[in-house]
Amino acid sequence: MTQVTQAPVKTRAQIASKTLRQDQWWRLPAFQAAVLGVVVIYLTWASLVNTDYYAAPLISPLYSPCLVTTCVKGSGFHWIPWLSWLAPAVLIIGGPMGFRLTCYYYRKAYYRAFWQSPTACAVREPHAKYTGETRIPLILQNLHRYFFYIALAFNVILTADAVVAFKNAQGQWGHMSLGTLVLIGNAALLWLYSLSCHSCRHITGGRLKHFSKHPVRYKAWTLVSKLNAKHMEFAWISLGFVCVTDLYIRLIAAGFFKDPTFF
Ligand code: FES
Repeated sequence: MTQVTQAPVKTRAQIASKTLRQDQWWRLPAFQAAVLGVVVIYLTWASLVNTDYYAAPLISPLYSPCLVTTCVKGSGFHWIPWLSWLAPAVLIIGGPMGFRLTCYYYRKAYYRAFWQSPTACAVREPHAKYTGETRIPLILQNLHRYFFYIALAFNVILTADAVVAFKNAQGQWGHMSLGTLVLIGNAALLWLYSLSCHSCRHITGGRLKHFSKHPVRYKAWTLVSKLNAKHMEFAWISLGFVCVTDLYIRLIAAGFFKDPTFF
């Protein structure tokens, strides 16, 4: 008589400890939490302080474009009536901030560093249930593809600021200073960060059945894919350099030193 063997019932491994990992898995999220914490505190302060954001012709990337009536003379467009105590940066900060907050890489970093969801690979997280990004507020992360276009507009404006930095303080063209290089570096890093975005990769090469029929998009997708492999690096470096650029202009505007000129 043939004996029928029953397949064992599948259950999850019953492991009492939080993790079986032996390495110092907590070091990276702890480091990211510390760095992100410092950067967020600095950027919040710099965006709200409402002073020393312009040293002609250099403008801090946090305040550009300066659209309101209270912008320092020469720094912007003076289009929108504004309260004198409210920093002009408040009006525009949502664009770049939304782009960074919804970025796939930053999500990974701050979910681990602050929210502990997940804490790390193969480490039990403290939350009882997982709903992912399927409901409010995290479903709003899907707005990332739209923030991408807003970020491109900001990149164009900050590139224009770098071009204007070839003027001297009196408004004459044909000059260059260390501040010019700082603004060029800032704009270049922001372009690298944006063009290496996962949404950009999808826009260039997504939904295509035959790359051979779309050689230009294939070329663009190949290029963006190469940049995409470095997205994490561009995310950190460009974020740090925005702080450096703001601080550099802030120190000049406050009179700590003069912007060294090359010609
Ligand atoms: S995925 Fe990071 S900017 Fe789009």
